[in-house]
Amino acid sequence: MRRKLAEQFTEEKMAMMDAVIEEYREIPGALLIILEKVQDVARYLPVDLQRYIAWKLGIPASRVYGVATFYSYFSMVPRGRKVVKVCNGTACYVKRSEEIKERLKQKIGVAEGEVSADGEFSIEEVRCLGACGLAPVVVVGEETFGLIDPENVGEILEKVSL
Ligand code: FES
Repeated sequence: MRRKLAEQFTEEKMAMMDAVIEEYREIPGALLIILEKVQDVARYLPVDLQRYIAWKLGIPASRVYGVATFYSYFSMVPRGRKVVKVCNGTACYVKRSEEIKERLKQKIGVAEGEVSADGEFSIEEVRCLGACGLAPVVVVGEETFGLIDPENVGEILEKVSL
């Protein structure tokens, strides 16, 4: 099982993920923390990695899958170091969020669900971010950008690239 994962992740990353699992394996209820920390290393949680975690912890893979799919924080597709989340809730949609997303994809040079060649960015469409008064809204990492003019999306990328 580990050999299969070693095709996707470097030995260094595998060692880091193993260390996380070992550190928390005896702590009751630590599955969420383990998934969070493993995802920090791998940048996503593919099904093979979920199975590996379950195997190492001696728990059913369905339990890991259940947690990984319940929380939107977890992703089963690769993510960039900076995830660009474009809100596509109603308030943002009517204020041209689709256009914002398309322009961001073009500027970054990446399709939705892919990671830029330098590994820096990925783009995701999300439901209402709860900041409708600032629509249209884009979140990059911890930073929120509101009242965005689709013509000026490049400014967002400049700010988060500093
Ligand atoms: S619809 Fe975008 S923040 Fe609510």
